[in-house]
Amino acid sequence: MLENFKLIRSFCSKNRSFSFVTTPIFYVNAAPHIGHLYSAVIADAIHRFNGLLNEPTSPSTTIFSTGTDEHGTKIQQAAASHSVPVATYCQQISDQYRGLFKNFNTAHTRFIRTTDQDHAVAVQSFWKALDATGNIYSTQYAGWYCIPDETFLTETQLKENDQGVKVSADSGHPVEWTEERNFMFRLSHYQDDVLHWIKGCEDRVVPTKFQKILLDFLQEPLPDISISRPKARVSWGIEVPSDPSQSVYVWLDALVNYLTVAGYPNKEFRQNWPPTVQVLGKDILKFHGIYWPAFLIAAGLEPPGQLLVHSHWTVDNQKMSKSKFNVIDPNERAIRYTNEGIRYFLLREGVAHSDGNYSDTKIVRILNAELADTLGNLLSRCCGKVLNPGAVVPAVDHASLEALLALEVTQKMLDLLNELPDKVRLHYQQYNFHLVVDCVVHLLHATNNFFETTAPWKCKGPDGKPQLETILALTMEVLRHTGIILQPIVPLLSGQLLDKLNVADRCRLWRDLEVKFNQEERPLANLNAVLFRRIVLPKPETVPEPRTKKVKRKN
Ligand code: MSP
Repeated sequence: MLENFKLIRSFCSKNRSFSFVTTPIFYVNAAPHIGHLYSAVIADAIHRFNGLLNEPTSPSTTIFSTGTDEHGTKIQQAAASHSVPVATYCQQISDQYRGLFKNFNTAHTRFIRTTDQDHAVAVQSFWKALDATGNIYSTQYAGWYCIPDETFLTETQLKENDQGVKVSADSGHPVEWTEERNFMFRLSHYQDDVLHWIKGCEDRVVPTKFQKILLDFLQEPLPDISISRPKARVSWGIEVPSDPSQSVYVWLDALVNYLTVAGYPNKEFRQNWPPTVQVLGKDILKFHGIYWPAFLIAAGLEPPGQLLVHSHWTVDNQKMSKSKFNVIDPNERAIRYTNEGIRYFLLREGVAHSDGNYSDTKIVRILNAELADTLGNLLSRCCGKVLNPGAVVPAVDHASLEALLALEVTQKMLDLLNELPDKVRLHYQQYNFHLVVDCVVHLLHATNNFFETTAPWKCKGPDGKPQLETILALTMEVLRHTGIILQPIVPLLSGQLLDKLNVADRCRLWRDLEVKFNQEERPLANLNAVLFRRIVLPKPETVPEPRTKKVKRKN
């Protein structure tokens, strides 16, 4: 079946100003937690970074989608357990996600719900496309079904837990024997195509460890998979076009959301297809790395350009779970640490290839050390009345600049500043946000050192003024670069920093990262120069236990 994939044009041909980034869509069976927010801020940072690279004059398409996954048994069950009609329940939790992303300032262009009308049209059209190409057949199906994971599992994917109950070996969730009539998808026909797609680009699935997992998976022959459920069992779903007694399998329904946001099945959709990068957690790798490309290839469509797979957050080194009462609600933590503080922590501390550990002690330490003491303090010192009574971004004085350039501390700072754009660009392109921050913090430390060593407060009187102003101008140049570079990670905080420095909106792009020795004084904006207040926690004995939400969740 390899020919199928060869008929579809190669991803690598897509033009560079096109950016289509997606998050998984989130189950509405419980309130959002910090892990969900992580998927969203990663995608947001990628989307914002792509935006920084675009010339404002060049026409560009940018799509960034997120949303909620609302069909299926477990949503039905969650609504029933809250005694709320299922549509009302979905609306409530979906609104919580929408609110979360608004609070954390994600710049998505579409928030899709699988209960949206255009999505139902897309799912049914996609089904018809699979059917028309002979990829669907009907059969009596029997197997072990795992409701929390919404999937049938084979014997090898099962184990017995401590209580002797059959569970999924992967997730630990219980399974039950189910016999029913199902429509099947000929996944087995697409083994070679999927393999070819994965191998078609060096960094198709990143980090590489996840690509290896997929390749290992493909060592075994792929079985055909069930893609419908009897409506009598799963009524909360999209109807199979040819058979109203069946609902479309929730994973097929959910994956099609990416097509819906691109405009499928309208003709214009092809201009928007395929996504450049799809962000997802490691638990849903098989669905995105095997089923999804197979579905697309079967329907004659190009699979996504790249999958970025991230690991999970644990809390104090424990898996987040309702039963451990350790589920972290980002909105609640934001009261203490601010929304931007939490974004910063997640992207600064999280690495895609390994699980990250959330701890309140660690977040306070990082935010205080980096955002308050290193970045914030430098800005306040430059803008404060003591050193900068005229409240300006001063012009450099050439004689003073020459003298300062002779100092090792200045050279060190400027070397780092000059090499910064290329270095961090690569880190962004490889999704290593923690390395972006590392580079910026390293430069800020060197700048603090420059500031301490050149001691502008000692430049007294009219004779000292040119030197004082040159020190401030150089420091503010570092801060301008910091503001531009950190926009994808902490957009509001960076915006505040650039506003204070009076940097015009049109001058906040990647192309503006050129070291300039300011030639003309300009006023600072009349805004607060306190970027990030130090977090002071009450003494240990009076710290109230953080309130943890009871949420129903599959992990
Ligand atoms: N609805 C499916 C996805 C369908 S996409 C076509 C789903 N939803 S989910 O709500 O369970 O998970 C959404 C995302 O949150 C996934 O990327 C998942 O990996 C991520 N996370 C869930 N728990 C997480 C952590 N503890 N840490 C980091 N991310 C986590 O799966």
